[in-house]
Amino acid sequence: MSYKTKEWRDSMRVTLDYNNMTETFLGDKGFSDKKLASYRTAATKAFSYVKENRGKDELYMGWTELPYNQKEIVADILETAKSVRRKFKYFVVLGIGGSALGPIMAFNALCHLHYNDLPRAKRKGPKFYVEDNVDPVRMRDLLDVIEPAETCFNVISKSGATSETMTQYLVILDLLKKAGVPVEDNVIFTTDAKKGNLNKIAAEYNGKIKCYVLPDGVGGRFSELCPVGLLPAAVLGIDIKGLLAGAAYMDSICRSSSIAKNPALACAVLQVAAMNEGKNVGVMMPYSDNLKYLADWYCQLWAESLGKNVTLDGMPCNVGQTPVKSLGVTDQHSQVQLYTEGPYDKVVTFLSLKKYACEFPIPHGCEDIPDVAFLGGHTMEELIQAENAATAYALTKAGRMNYTLYIPELNAFTLGELLFLFELQTAYAGAMFNIDTFNQPGVEEGKKATFALLGKAGYAEKKKELDSLPEKKTEYIV
Ligand code: PA5
Repeated sequence: MSYKTKEWRDSMRVTLDYNNMTETFLGDKGFSDKKLASYRTAATKAFSYVKENRGKDELYMGWTELPYNQKEIVADILETAKSVRRKFKYFVVLGIGGSALGPIMAFNALCHLHYNDLPRAKRKGPKFYVEDNVDPVRMRDLLDVIEPAETCFNVISKSGATSETMTQYLVILDLLKKAGVPVEDNVIFTTDAKKGNLNKIAAEYNGKIKCYVLPDGVGGRFSELCPVGLLPAAVLGIDIKGLLAGAAYMDSICRSSSIAKNPALACAVLQVAAMNEGKNVGVMMPYSDNLKYLADWYCQLWAESLGKNVTLDGMPCNVGQTPVKSLGVTDQHSQVQLYTEGPYDKVVTFLSLKKYACEFPIPHGCEDIPDVAFLGGHTMEELIQAENAATAYALTKAGRMNYTLYIPELNAFTLGELLFLFELQTAYAGAMFNIDTFNQPGVEEGKKATFALLGKAGYAEKKKELDSLPEKKTEYIV
């Protein structure tokens, strides 16, 4: 895929600096070259596993090919987006987990931070909302700010069986019917190619509901670069070809089995090596409000993919790292005290912008108060970058592992790079632990219990199990 010039693409390259993970900077709290070299065999094996299984739907590795195999889909999405922008005042995504975190993340990363408050002439698309919960207050409040007839609802669910999403759909269906609006005019489904309830519903409408496919080999948390993320992004006027080109570019950079040449593999090795030494918490700390929800998206990717209790060989294990989102500089004033002086159980990943979307000069003033006056004449960009560097320095001085991903500037291309880097990093790390990175059996138990509590057919046994739990002791309730 060609995207601008090679020179431009190279100038947009996201780079990794992991000096602050090494003994040169952390003394005995850091990795020696020998220690990192000891991971070479495992890293090469993980690299080969991912390389050999790229694109295999049966292993849920179809996401590796998304930057390359969606030409027609992208063209179709761009057409749909154009008509959605023309016809609707509001665009609402109904979905949860992997079907919601990506759209939220891209919206926040690449649109105005107060997008919905801008007048229509200053927005590229309709007002945008993602409903990723079943909090009744949130649903009520959404309905207070949209007009159903003027709203396009994008229902995103691979299974079509997720209680949260289908509850939201039932609410919207009822609303549209009561308003006398033909459902097929205001609803778009993104779902499995053939299976699931959304396909059954679409069939009832004789194919009149527009449907996009969430491809077979793509799991929810790896789905941002397929129609799950591309349609909402296109509606918002985000350059979706740029997103995919950025992902392809990162893919091209990560074609080496050498840790020194493949940033995703290097990140995986650093994190796995750190986990093996008790760093059970991974902090993702962007110094950018636009990247706040990238940390959220990453948390799901990392937690749901790596938190597993059995290896691919059936051996018991309890692996994974608790991802924590933290926003620079905001969380310097809440969490960084813990990171610098608390337990040595964390690795901090900084996401650092080399250039922000705008400059904002700090005016001179308060000249008789030197404590304040020194700020005047600098820019807010200088301040946030200085605070980022200072926090990395303070952590390093305190012997705390941290590394930085430098982003030349934030745009669709560099966001695509970051998404693909994190997806590859996760696949490599999972392969190093020899686990199934792409399933989520631990989420199922809670889902089944919910079905039983709400009386879904086929869950009577589960209901009995829940009813037979010991009675709660009143003395433990204070
Ligand atoms: O990553 C995942 O697979 C999950 O978070 C799913 O995206 C989430 O449970 C929603 O599932 P579905 O798309 O089937 O409604």
